[in-house]
Amino acid sequence: MINKSTTEIRQMFLTFFQNKGHKIIPGSSLIPNNDQTLLFTNAGMNQFKNIFLGLESINHSRITTAQHCIRAGGKHNDLKNVGYTNRHHTFFEMLGNFSFDDYFKQDAIKYAWELLTGKNWFNIPENRFWITTYHTDDESYNIWIKEIGIPEDRVIRIGDNKGSIYASDNFWQMGNTGPCGPCTEIFYDHGESIIGNLPGSVDGYGDRYTEIWNIVFMQFNRYNDGSLKLLSKPFVDTGMGLERISAVLQNVHSNYEIDIFRELIASISKLIMLSDFNNNSSNKSLRVIADHIRSSVFLISDGVFPSNEGRGYVLRRIIRRAIYHGYMIGVKGLFFYKLVKPLIYLLDNNKIESQQITIEKILMNEERQFLRILDRGIKLLDYELSQLQGDILTGEIVFLLYDTYGVPFDVTADICYERGIKFDELGFYAAMEQQKSKSRNSSIFTSNYNNIIKIDKNSDFSGYEKIIQRSKVTAIFKNDQFVNVLHQNENGIIICDKTCFYAESGGQVGDSGIISNNYFQFVVSDTKKYAKAIGHIGKLISGSISLNDLVNTQIDIKRRNAISINHSATHLLHAALRKVLGNHVIQQGSLVTDKYLRFDFNHFSAMTAIEIDKIENIVNYQIRKNHSIVTTLMYLEEAKEKGLVIFKNDRCNVKVRVLNIGDFSTELCCGTHANRTGDIGLFRINSESSIAAGIRRIEAVTGQVAIDLMRSQSHLLSEISKLINTDVNNLLKKIKVTLDKVKLLEKSLNELKWKQVAQKIISLHKQVKKINEVNLLITNVDNMDFNQLRMIVDGLKNKLKLAIIVLFTIYNGKVNITVGVTSNLSTKINANDLIMFVSQRLGGKGGGRADIAQCVISNITIVHDLLFLIEEWIYSRLRLMNK
Ligand code: ALA
Repeated sequence: MINKSTTEIRQMFLTFFQNKGHKIIPGSSLIPNNDQTLLFTNAGMNQFKNIFLGLESINHSRITTAQHCIRAGGKHNDLKNVGYTNRHHTFFEMLGNFSFDDYFKQDAIKYAWELLTGKNWFNIPENRFWITTYHTDDESYNIWIKEIGIPEDRVIRIGDNKGSIYASDNFWQMGNTGPCGPCTEIFYDHGESIIGNLPGSVDGYGDRYTEIWNIVFMQFNRYNDGSLKLLSKPFVDTGMGLERISAVLQNVHSNYEIDIFRELIASISKLIMLSDFNNNSSNKSLRVIADHIRSSVFLISDGVFPSNEGRGYVLRRIIRRAIYHGYMIGVKGLFFYKLVKPLIYLLDNNKIESQQITIEKILMNEERQFLRILDRGIKLLDYELSQLQGDILTGEIVFLLYDTYGVPFDVTADICYERGIKFDELGFYAAMEQQKSKSRNSSIFTSNYNNIIKIDKNSDFSGYEKIIQRSKVTAIFKNDQFVNVLHQNENGIIICDKTCFYAESGGQVGDSGIISNNYFQFVVSDTKKYAKAIGHIGKLISGSISLNDLVNTQIDIKRRNAISINHSATHLLHAALRKVLGNHVIQQGSLVTDKYLRFDFNHFSAMTAIEIDKIENIVNYQIRKNHSIVTTLMYLEEAKEKGLVIFKNDRCNVKVRVLNIGDFSTELCCGTHANRTGDIGLFRINSESSIAAGIRRIEAVTGQVAIDLMRSQSHLLSEISKLINTDVNNLLKKIKVTLDKVKLLEKSLNELKWKQVAQKIISLHKQVKKINEVNLLITNVDNMDFNQLRMIVDGLKNKLKLAIIVLFTIYNGKVNITVGVTSNLSTKINANDLIMFVSQRLGGKGGGRADIAQCVISNITIVHDLLFLIEEWIYSRLRLMNK
């Protein structure tokens, strides 16, 4: 068996498959491209999903990759295993070979075997392997036994062992919907010294037999209702965990003992001064920290930021779990962000190296925030655990800890696990569901991949060059149903074989316009994509339209131009933000309409006014330079090879449009654009705000809209100037003077009110009656506001030792009532009780404390009832007191 470093093993894998005719291409980003069904990239095949589904074609039939994967959310989630096993990670690298309608089961299995056991390759002894196949997959079973020569008792057939049909360890699927198929898995036996059961055993696997390679035969597409449909062509998708194969080849029994982890764990131990741990790689907290710093760094580098929603929340959970484990082994203060540097040292990855400072800042912020609440949260959990009757912690408490104290579910899970306590996971999710804002977030990732309107037609888009396109109607939909004819005044969706209408995508809204011929006019209000077809959504205002009609599609060019200049401005804005704020800025979303543009990006603090001005200046300068805006079509790999800045993570092996704005901006983009930057005219930022932790939003306008905006702002200034009788240049000074005057007037008014209050206290003091020992005053005062009433009541209470004071006044058309009770009396006569009593009877609103309370009643005709009610209530309490 060879002994190589992890880096060498990765390279050997790629070279082996290159020799077998595979093209080596880069892995995709951890954020799946345009795929709402997936939280994170979780397998090498993700970037090829549309090819498997027949939605896109590819010009290599054999490909090999090393793909970064995250399995910490969604269907494949290993978060809670990390730390407790030798082989689980939240972040890992998957080595894969893919066949697109080329070789199938036989070659896929033979290649895998040759790489693993071949003398010139990994050269692992054959008797260390065990194989599993899907129970009905005789073909794979026979290949292993008859062609490879594995003894029959080492090939285990596994059926649907996960509770329903096709739910099996040997039936792989990417998510709840999408491509799937039977698989055969190769297991390595780490030997008797490691605990673990054979694959397929019901009571868990342990670490002895480790799955190192999964070979999937993609044959089906799974729909939302669970049904499977055969794919048009079969594919091979394989995945081998780089960390697992490295453990085998480096002759260790745990992924955490391979070269990269050994060094990382050593750096962590050094940094947090834990030299007394003898066997650091088996310390579960160090494993958790080592695994989680890798996932955190790679996730942030690909543009995920800690937040309370979706991907950002998964990252937050990972970071917090790592920090908790640091806390548990006695680390004091901040430590997690300091691990970025030693990790980067091990990686040899330029992209991440250039982001070091940003990643450190983000982690440090997050760590600070969590450390403030961690101690309190843990104490509260300790308390709850000490009060526990039985051995189950309720879901509500887990949720409370999460929601109020920020202790993530996983941290509570770890603590409970260590203390042998179970917790009600379902109860936690139920409590979570009740919180609407959170449930919104979970629903984003369960959307149906397959559209409501199912159509297999194709529409060619000619709208980059044309504004009118002659074409043929190929489908008509009314109420989402396919029809042959649409009649006057009916709404519907028209599909044509060609169109110049841009369908909403990449943040750019759909075009509007007219579809017509001599017999009808269909007004298009929006355009959307339905698989490969472009749908014109609108209303037939005259005539009728039938299938196969020849028509003209004509866009509203004025609106399209307004959209296009906003789109080009978005690219200028993006490049300017990276120049001013730094290269960590990555687009997180955008909306491009004819009225305005919206651009979301990651940045950790609010932009200053100076930064905003700088951005505006840069963009306007680039507009004045009147660059030409040029699109070139090329393969993504070519674009990457040319060293072009690629912001978005796009699929490989499809042609992409690379948009260059002079030498200032280069981005992949399918949208429509201005011809030259000068067409944008003017760029003006309207607002900059936060939309989630670490995500900022800029809204801006361009062209005529920007000119209109500036004009209306200057009109507004003129009107304000007129109103306060000055010219625009003196406006600021005049407003300051006026505000100073208002302050002075308020001050004199307050003094006056004070005087009134003082006089009122003296005059009311004389009206106080004594009932037994208690001073009582219930009276009406005129023209006092709520504050004054309160001050008078407080003043009288100070003067009188044992007193109940009730004042009411009619102010602004409402009755205001204030009740004060000296504190030595308030346990018996409670001011708030009286206010509540009065409010309930007479329909008022208010409240307060036992010694002072106030309410307002809108109906002033009740004043007499009021007096009566109050007297009766107080006298009855006084009588009770004296008994
Ligand atoms: N897609 C397969 C997996 O992730 C290879 O296991």
